[in-house]
Amino acid sequence: MELFDTHTHLDDARFDEDRDQVIRRMQEQGITRCMCIGADMASSRAALELAKAHEGFYAAVGVHPHDAENFTEDAAQELLALCREPKVRAVGEIGLDYHYDLSPRQTQRDVFRRQIALAREAGLPMVLHIREAHGDALEILRAETDLPAGVVHCYSGSLESAREYMRLGLLISFTGSVTFKNAHNLQAVAAVLPREKIMIETDCPYMAPTPYRGRRNEPALVAEVLRFLADLRGESEEELARTTMENGRRLFGID
Ligand code: NI
Repeated sequence: MELFDTHTHLDDARFDEDRDQVIRRMQEQGITRCMCIGADMASSRAALELAKAHEGFYAAVGVHPHDAENFTEDAAQELLALCREPKVRAVGEIGLDYHYDLSPRQTQRDVFRRQIALAREAGLPMVLHIREAHGDALEILRAETDLPAGVVHCYSGSLESAREYMRLGLLISFTGSVTFKNAHNLQAVAAVLPREKIMIETDCPYMAPTPYRGRRNEPALVAEVLRFLADLRGESEEELARTTMENGRRLFGID
């Protein structure tokens, strides 16, 4: 059984002590493909370096809504240049985060639109981070003509919003947060989405699944997300592993 961890932050300083062991562990567990996701310019460059250094690793480059305030036109031009690197397969993570509001909302919306345009220009899909902002995000996405393909990562919205995203051609991705004891609403969503529309991820070092909640997460634990979802949906792990792998490979253009 092969798995694809479609959202990791392996450049994070919390992996500095043992990054090679973490990567060896994931390979031993059959996680054969991995997306390294940028959240600002430095981590976008770092994600590309990791992707270049490891077989089966690919990168997304972009500026997270937390950091929207620091987005410049120079950054946009550098991102566009990074997008021409063969291992860069997406623009992300981009979007809106009204939970932390670390950048002003108007700035978040402007920078989100700018980076959607960038994905379109680069001919790449988008990795979306949307938290407590699904209404505004959907409004922005619906207003686009020629919306690039993409995925709403670490999904936290309602079933109704998920259906709206899918109508726009987007996939929905689940992290360890779907395994949390109190995640009844999210579990109800994950139980019914069409298999062709879902992906799995760790978002490591964040979002460690039950029973590792609160600890540092790592790609090997994407197997726990798979196991939980397969059980929830009444599907075999093999079948769900195969479909989520196909969905990820198709979205990111990976052989
Ligand atoms: Ni992330």
